[in-house]
Amino acid sequence: MVYVTRKERFSAAHRLYKPGYNDEQNYETFGKCAHPNWHGHNYILYVTVRGKVDPDTRFLITIHELSDIIKERIIEKVDHKNLNLDVDFLDGIQPTCENLSMAIWKELKPYINNLNNELYCVRLEETENNFFEYYGE
Ligand code: NI
Repeated sequence: MVYVTRKERFSAAHRLYKPGYNDEQNYETFGKCAHPNWHGHNYILYVTVRGKVDPDTRFLITIHELSDIIKERIIEKVDHKNLNLDVDFLDGIQPTCENLSMAIWKELKPYINNLNNELYCVRLEETENNFFEYYGE
């Protein structure tokens, strides 16, 4: 089994809050990410695919195919956008990194599987100190 990882970047705004909480309660729960007038992060996304090497090409998946799928399905929809308001696949979803990782997985999985490879991990870095990984159900 071979594992291939593609790294992509995007910048986006968000706000974490619970409807019904006042600003103080939201700050207590979500920290700076509760700021009412939005703020941004420079996210780094790693998508890992695993599978068997193609006997003809000697590739698992060509890295440009993987990059094209990630760009088309995720990056073009989230880069320089507001994650609370602008992204179809995040509609109604609180944009925590946990939820983002799971939503990105759900978006990518059908397209990765079409290429006879298996999506293995979605890793999202929100800051240099915090990262989140999702490996499916
Ligand atoms: Ni934040």
